[in-house]
Amino acid sequence: MECNDVILSRYSVRKFLPDPVPQFVLTEMLEAARLAPSTQNKQPWRFIVLQNPDKIKSMAFNCGLIGLSNFFIRSAPCVVIACADTEQNVKINGQDYYLVDTAIAFQQMMLIAWSHGVGSCWLGAFSEKRLKPWLGISDNWRIVALSPFGYPAEKQGLYAKVVKAFAGSKDRLPLDKIVRYLD
Ligand SMILES: Cc1cc2nc3c(=O)[nH]c(=O)nc-3n(C[C@H](O)[C@H](O)[C@H](O)COP(=O)(O)O)c2cc1C
Repeated sequence: MECNDVILSRYSVRKFLPDPVPQFVLTEMLEAARLAPSTQNKQPWRFIVLQNPDKIKSMAFNCGLIGLSNFFIRSAPCVVIACADTEQNVKINGQDYYLVDTAIAFQQMMLIAWSHGVGSCWLGAFSEKRLKPWLGISDNWRIVALSPFGYPAEKQGLYAKVVKAFAGSKDRLPLDKIVRYLD
């Protein structure tokens, strides 16, 4: 798929086929993240890949109460948890750039995945307090986001429809609402 087609056709996938993500696709996804730009090239991102179905179910459970709405990840064939090493953070104007850097890398991963037909869904609703000890990651790491990865089920199901309707997922603000040309 052309880059433009990837961006135009991507959507959040919330129901997956059981087929695994092929290793060459997973490697390309991780490589796309690795090559992302970052503040002062600090590369604060760290990725944890889960493919074992029992581990994924346990991880979904350990997303806590707030993560209940994202329980659909338990049946995904692959989950990637995007973390950041805050010791590699750069602060500018009071803003922590590890978040920006890791978000850029994770989005690159998602777009390359989609270029192979592998869907994803950015998830921000999880309890970091519960997930961190379960993952056993060090104190200076933050969990920025996580996403299931897999081939989309043909029918996305009722839950996906409800979330999409609730979030207004198809809507985007028009350019004149988000862009201002300074003459
Ligand atoms: C930072 C962030 C957090 C999100 N958290 C969740 C989430 O916890 N659960 C979920 O189902 N979708 C989540 N989404 C997906 C959005 O709902 C979705 O991207 C938006 O509605 C647009 O729909 P689309 O991705 O299908 O274009 C999140 C997206 C972002 C960027």
